[in-house]
Amino acid sequence: MKISVIGTGYVGLVTGTCLAETGNEVICVDIDVNKIENMRKGVVPIYEPHLDVLFERNINAKRLKFTTSLKEGLDHGDIIFLALPTPEDEDGSADLRYVLGVADEIGQLITDYKVIVDKSTVPVGTAEKVHEVISKNAKVDFDVVSNPEFLREGFAVDDFLKPERIVIGSSSDRATELMGKLYKPFVRSGNPIIIMDEKSAELTKYAANSFLAAKITFMNEVANYCEKVGADVDKVRIGMGTDSRIGKRFLFPGIGYGGSCFPKDVKALHKSGKDEDYDFKILEAVLKVNKKQKLALLPKINSYFESNIKGKTFALWGLAFKPETDDIREAPALDMINELLANGAKVKAFDPEAMDNVARKMGDKIEFANSMYDVLEGADALVICTEWSIFRTPNFNTIRELLKNSVIFDGRNLYDLHDIEKEGFSYYSIGRKDIK
Ligand code: UDX
Repeated sequence: MKISVIGTGYVGLVTGTCLAETGNEVICVDIDVNKIENMRKGVVPIYEPHLDVLFERNINAKRLKFTTSLKEGLDHGDIIFLALPTPEDEDGSADLRYVLGVADEIGQLITDYKVIVDKSTVPVGTAEKVHEVISKNAKVDFDVVSNPEFLREGFAVDDFLKPERIVIGSSSDRATELMGKLYKPFVRSGNPIIIMDEKSAELTKYAANSFLAAKITFMNEVANYCEKVGADVDKVRIGMGTDSRIGKRFLFPGIGYGGSCFPKDVKALHKSGKDEDYDFKILEAVLKVNKKQKLALLPKINSYFESNIKGKTFALWGLAFKPETDDIREAPALDMINELLANGAKVKAFDPEAMDNVARKMGDKIEFANSMYDVLEGADALVICTEWSIFRTPNFNTIRELLKNSVIFDGRNLYDLHDIEKEGFSYYSIGRKDIK
């Protein structure tokens, strides 16, 4: 099939590349001339495991092309994906400027039947708005469908190629049939393509992300309570998670969720509720608790250093909001750094992928190191913010030799309490006994 993807951000790029991988002819459109030129040369603008291999293969096979011309993109595709940014407005709602701007241009340029697909995470009612805007000028028939993505950063290629489900919001048989044909190769395992109306599809995305954010947040509150009563959240987590109604995943407590989706989507759903005079009390609590949770290690740090961290140096492991990405949007590590700096401490950091992004944002406010051990030299304590695999089995002797004090503050519960006690560390984690 012939496909066009408007917007080559994270979602657009993964969508375009993976659709080319199943034999479709794909054109990706973006207004950024430099980006398009670089992509034509095979440069992938984001870090996402496996994307580079697929990218190169499909460019070489001439199934994946790039242009800055919306007209060229629109003429090419039978299905036109809109994968445009929906940034957070000042009031927390999703800003639809880019989506509706492109819809307006499409209305002026469209010359034959197309299926226009909202791939971005957009508030309920957006497909209807996009339809209205295109209709203003369009002289031909077209359909707008909602097809939310459920891609996790770091696993996006796998999630796209082997989805647990595809959600399609469509009230047109013609559009539904085309979308079904496009996605058939991805659900050969029997996973469902779920067809529903546009509004329900739009809400499915927000509800799924908000539920997962609430699940993590609930566990973070249980963890905080464990500390009060002397229970161990790792035991509670396993005890709960083996109930199949609850499930084992997304029950890991820590210093809060971050990223480009959960924070933005919870806020946007909360705000959309308000607009309809509906008070999403759970979401309000999620937002409040997560904000506080990002600094959950701070009281422990203050208590260890007797509220005197001025002039102390903290070595940070992990800056990305989660492992396997260089994304630092809403990363708990940033809150931690800002708070340490505000209290007069110094910060040195190491992350396998995200240091350039933090350097761009923070300049020389903090130092960076070339390795997970270099960063420890002369530091007063180690603080772990992201659970990269390489941090899971470190050489504890080296850590002890390099740090001034044998103390670890672990925001991701990486180590077994018995093991770390045997290694002779003071160890503070989330929802478990402190080892003093
Ligand atoms: C998420 C959704 O999973 C995906 O379906 C959606 O399309 C986009 O948003 P992503 O933001 O890439 O994906 O990351 P995810 O792996 O879901 O993690 C989100 C945050 O929750 C991370 O900060 C992570 O550290 C945190 N988290 C996750 C926990 O704190 N505990 C957990 O048990 C799981």
